[in-house]
Amino acid sequence: MSATLLLLAALPSALGLARPDGVGTLPALGWNSWNAYFCDVNETKLLSAANLIISLGLKDAGYEYVNIDDCWSIKDGRDNTTQQIIPDPNKFPNGIVGVASEIHNLGLKTGIYSSAGTKTCAGYPASIGYEYIDAATFAGWGIDYLKYDNCYVPGNWSDAKASGDNYNYSTSNTAERYRIMRDALVAQNRTILYSLCEWGQAKVWTWGNETGNSWRTTGDITPDWNSVMSIFNEQTFISNYTDFTGHNDPDMLEVGNGNLTLTKTRSHFALWSLMKAPLIIGTDLSKLSQENLDILLNKYLLAFNQDAVYGAPAEPYKWGVNTDQTYNRTNPAEFWSGDSSNGTIVAMLNTLDSTRTMRADFGEIPGLDADGPYKMLDAWTGESAGCVKGGLDAQVESHDTAVYLIQEYCEC
Ligand SMILES: *[C@@H]1O[C@H](CO)[C@@H](O)[C@H](O)[C@H]1NC(C)=O
Ligand SMILES: *[C@@H]1O[C@H](CO)[C@@H](O)[C@H](O)[C@H]1NC(C)=O
Ligand SMILES: *[C@@H]1O[C@H](CO)[C@@H](O)[C@H](O)[C@H]1NC(C)=O
Ligand SMILES: *[C@@H]1O[C@H](CO)[C@@H](O)[C@H](O)[C@H]1NC(C)=O
Ligand SMILES: *[C@@H]1O[C@H](CO)[C@@H](O)[C@H](O)[C@H]1NC(C)=O
Ligand SMILES: *[C@@H]1O[C@H](CO)[C@@H](O)[C@H](O)[C@H]1NC(C)=O
Ligand SMILES: *[C@@H]1O[C@H](CO)[C@@H](O)[C@H](O)[C@H]1NC(C)=O
Ligand SMILES: *[C@@H]1O[C@H](CO)[C@@H](O)[C@H](O)[C@H]1NC(C)=O
Ligand SMILES: *[C@@H]1O[C@H](CO)[C@@H](O)[C@H](O)[C@H]1NC(C)=O
Ligand SMILES: *[C@@H]1O[C@H](CO)[C@@H](O)[C@H](O)[C@H]1NC(C)=O
Repeated sequence: MSATLLLLAALPSALGLARPDGVGTLPALGWNSWNAYFCDVNETKLLSAANLIISLGLKDAGYEYVNIDDCWSIKDGRDNTTQQIIPDPNKFPNGIVGVASEIHNLGLKTGIYSSAGTKTCAGYPASIGYEYIDAATFAGWGIDYLKYDNCYVPGNWSDAKASGDNYNYSTSNTAERYRIMRDALVAQNRTILYSLCEWGQAKVWTWGNETGNSWRTTGDITPDWNSVMSIFNEQTFISNYTDFTGHNDPDMLEVGNGNLTLTKTRSHFALWSLMKAPLIIGTDLSKLSQENLDILLNKYLLAFNQDAVYGAPAEPYKWGVNTDQTYNRTNPAEFWSGDSSNGTIVAMLNTLDSTRTMRADFGEIPGLDADGPYKMLDAWTGESAGCVKGGLDAQVESHDTAVYLIQEYCEC
């Protein structure tokens, strides 16, 4: 056995899908067509999004993937000779290869979508039984990211009835369906980030790290507060499965969509960033307000999400009004903290219906001295909160999240 093999053999079994080029080590940043356009996607919209990612400063902030979701192919089946899925020539007159090449010319990457079933969720050809053909096709087109959904699963692939908490879900048929595509992708001579979208079934977080770079943990998000809170709360109980290379995915961003107010949108983005979720924008960028753009560009939250030294997400250090500390879709944990290269980040989510004073008490926050004093910065305004002793009282509006960076000791 070579020294390398010996070293690998000694590593823990929770080894993730690490790539030689480091792709997927940090949560993916990008844009996806679904939440903006659903099935109504085409080349013009993709390229317009790609150009806006540049002109709005999103590329400079780190957003790099421009991803096509469902409905990109013809519905009538595969090419009879090559067995490849055929891009819809009306929507993509230059093929997927054409749009991918334009996106690459802009210095961005591109993603595509399929399902681990016979059809995609919208009824287009999908990849089960064709994994190697599709992976090779995607690689040949210059694809950099695959979102792999969970619709139209053939009956013989359904999971055996799980026998409680002791069942080893990495032996499930679901895990196997996702492993086949992993192996097909890894066999290509191009790195394709692998994003599992199986809605949190079969306890995917227990086998996600060895299978993909991220894994959806819940059903689809919708652009309303109930959905954001409910998904957020579910992550609280599985947050420790996220670290470098493998990330819980609470679904794409709804910033700019539905009736999320500015305060709720701030919370959504802050909480997704702090969970170290992939941050995949899903709105029509030509209609994005300046306030919502500023949220997506928040450099302190992005720096936490993309920290190259600390891979763990923020954790609740106090639950606040939810004294039961159990699943509660309206009132998840409110007080969160996490370590980063630039200090400890602390976030306080007000789940109640009116403004209240919330205290970041240093004595309660892991790793801090009760007295400090610490130099603190408000992550929303970028303004210094001064040199703070003991803790800081913040007025937090209903459904808003105050975020502070606790930087270093100071003298006051
Ligand atoms: C996932 O795998 C990567 C690479 O092997 C490892 O660094 C990381 O700690 C793993 N994540 C968890 C939560 O164990
Ligand atoms: C493949 O062949 C079948 C049978 O001849 C035909 O109905 C179908 O349209 C063909 N598919 C494509 C994509 O050309
Ligand atoms: C894409 O859709 C938009 C809006 O419907 C339309 O203006 C544009 O021409 C379409 N582009 C293609 C390539 O079909
Ligand atoms: C389901 O059937 C297909 C087609 O016969 C086969 O390739 C596949 O291995 C089967 N899956 C399982 C889990 O047995
Ligand atoms: C679950 O099954 C996999 C595959 O057989 C095995 O490698 C792993 O060690 C098992 N995990 C546990 C906790 O038994
Ligand atoms: C990657 O694979 C494709 C298709 O097999 C081949 O044409 C290409 O030359 C390969 N590229 C590299 C860098 O090996
Ligand atoms: C996460 O925590 C759960 C519950 O304490 C534990 O069973 C599991 O092994 C942990 N997972 C990781 C990857 O640390
Ligand atoms: C907007 O919010 C209300 C509750 O305030 C909710 O009932 C409704 O479904 C939301 N609309 C959308 C489009 O999310
Ligand atoms: C974090 O600290 C580093 C080193 O001081 C600095 O270069 C970087 O701009 C800081 N990032 C943020 C978001 O504060
Ligand atoms: C959620 O927490 C709030 C605040 O503690 C409480 O009033 C409510 O009853 C809880 N809901 C559930 C379903 O437990």
